[in-house]
Amino acid sequence: MRILFLGDIVGRPGYAAVTERLSEIRDQESVDFVIANAENAADGSGLTVRQFRGLVAAGVDVITMGDHVYRKLELKPVLETDPRIVKPANYPEAAPGRPWTVVRSRSGVPVAVLSLMGRVFMRPVDCPFQAADRYLAEIPPEVKVRIVDVHAEATSDKQTLARYLDGRVTAVLGTHTHVPTADAGLLAGGTAYQTDVGMTGPYDGVIGRAFDRVLATTVTFEPTHFHVATGDVRICGAVVEVDPETGLATAIRRYERAEPGPAE
Ligand SMILES: [Fe+2]
Ligand SMILES: [Fe+2]
Repeated sequence: MRILFLGDIVGRPGYAAVTERLSEIRDQESVDFVIANAENAADGSGLTVRQFRGLVAAGVDVITMGDHVYRKLELKPVLETDPRIVKPANYPEAAPGRPWTVVRSRSGVPVAVLSLMGRVFMRPVDCPFQAADRYLAEIPPEVKVRIVDVHAEATSDKQTLARYLDGRVTAVLGTHTHVPTADAGLLAGGTAYQTDVGMTGPYDGVIGRAFDRVLATTVTFEPTHFHVATGDVRICGAVVEVDPETGLATAIRRYERAEPGPAE
């Protein structure tokens, strides 16, 4: 089976690209299951209920989030009741949302999804290694296909977690840094890995935000609202080939598709 994992959907440009193109991409790539990180969909921070519904209607099977998970508090009831979205699993137990989920693919294969946050240059959270052990043990053993979103700032955090989980999960796929890395590959134990799959959004800026605002705040220290950038919109992610019998990956490749720019 083939799984498409899309990196952080950023703002209106990222959201529009996914909702307009995903059904075509699903057909072209013969994708059986789609996971998307949507923590930046709502003007760069969070996800609205309307967007959640729009992404699901467009063909996203499970949504992961990250440090922006609670930026739109209207999402709380969705996080608490809908199996198609998870919170970071190493957030406190009292934090709204489920730490893992299982959703069936179009061909009927159950797929577990878990999201873990890193701890370098990020808000303190529980140990992602212990959280992974705890929740992977909770997932029913017959659910062999297990995808982990590692949402972290540091490459070393992501690599260490991936090697720790090698052979125990199908794929460990990086998000949060928004720039695709050129290291998609299989680890020795059969787990697919990519440090960052890249964001789905505008690349003509600073990790999806308009350069002028980011520069002004960086230089003057005056806080401002970081607008979402507009140009060079790309849909980025990873395509993972999975053996549903073993739950291990047999291949992984980067996915990148440029969206047509605005008419001149
Ligand atoms: Fe992000
Ligand atoms: Fe993030």
